[in-house]
Amino acid sequence: MYAHITGWGMAVPSRVLTNHDLAQMVETDNEWIVSRTGIQERHIANPEQTSASLAIEAALKALEVANLKPVDVDLIIVSTSTPEHVFPATACLVQDRLGAARAGAFDLSAACSGFIYALDIATQAIRTESVKNALVIGTETLSRFVDWEDRTTCILFGDGAGAFVLQAGEEPGGLISSVMRSDGSGGNLLILPAGGSHLPASPETVREGLHYIQMHGREVFRFATRVMAQATEEAVKKAHLSLEDISLIIPHQANQRIIETAARKLNFPMERVMVNVDRYGNTSTASIPIATCEAIQSGRLQAGDKTVFVGFGAGLTWGAAVVIWSGPFPVRRRVRPTRYRLLARLRSILLRLVRRIEGIIWGNG
Ligand code: ACO
Repeated sequence: MYAHITGWGMAVPSRVLTNHDLAQMVETDNEWIVSRTGIQERHIANPEQTSASLAIEAALKALEVANLKPVDVDLIIVSTSTPEHVFPATACLVQDRLGAARAGAFDLSAACSGFIYALDIATQAIRTESVKNALVIGTETLSRFVDWEDRTTCILFGDGAGAFVLQAGEEPGGLISSVMRSDGSGGNLLILPAGGSHLPASPETVREGLHYIQMHGREVFRFATRVMAQATEEAVKKAHLSLEDISLIIPHQANQRIIETAARKLNFPMERVMVNVDRYGNTSTASIPIATCEAIQSGRLQAGDKTVFVGFGAGLTWGAAVVIWSGPFPVRRRVRPTRYRLLARLRSILLRLVRRIEGIIWGNG
């Protein structure tokens, strides 16, 4: 059995923050940001938008492309470093609001490499016939964890979500090889120190700004350029292919210079590398599916193409996956996943009501 990617969707907030806007907020300028990172603008969530709401928007589009009803989804993996809560999992909020009544759901935390990890896990679940249809989502609202007074980090990040539908099929295709790696000794290079069990949120942690992203940029840069090339080569070799077989590399969009250095190390032409960091900044785990959606839209990724997803992030983590691009399975009748949202809402209200009544009956309501 193979795990074909049959649906895709992305969602970004409509609010755009340009480098010129940032220059009004911190001591920086457009020229510095563009020359060091390639970023020109990023999308920032409105107060009512969250990691779950962006995830749902992307997921509904992916389900629509795949022509799949939410109730047919068996597994939802949400990769995120900016979950709505420590618990419950953001994946469970997505499951409820989509009305994916039969799905198991969990979050995966591997920072910017998370989408590759999640794709691998969902693929294994399909290949071992544990599930048939999976939804893999990368979603972030990093703007909520950025210190908007720290010019070394606030210029980098943006908000957004991307989703893939994976479906079981007997034809060879989908994710055919992957590598997942980590090195926890570099954990302090990119860290959000407070808010977990090690350093619970307190007035002191807030006063010291420990609930914001902290990063050693130069070290992360060096690590990223080393592992991006390594992981790509390893995944391609594992798939018994060579780099000439790869029509497009879709890397994690952190920094144009990191992407160019990795391509140079691989001796791979930049014309066959997808880059859209200029318009979205670093959306962490959402960057690969967002870049994939745009590659499809612009005709750079088509059915039958062999592509590599490669990423790195906090942890430290990194990974790569070789994918034979499939496209949607043929369908007889179209479904509209958005139509199921009202049903999902009703179902959710009903379930809450039942729990209330049960509480009253058993005397603890
Ligand atoms: N505007 C103007 N000047 C700035 C800014 C800014 N926004 N930020 C830093 N500077 C200054 C610094 O203070 C420094 O000045 P100094 O020499 O007087 O001390 C100078 O510019 C150079 O700073 P560097 O940190 O050496 O700049 P560098 O060329 O390394 O670029 C950058 C910094 C863009 C952060 C780079 O190191 C980088 O991209 N690193 C990788 C970061 C990354 O990808 N992180 C995400 C990982 S994925 C995840 O898990 C979320």
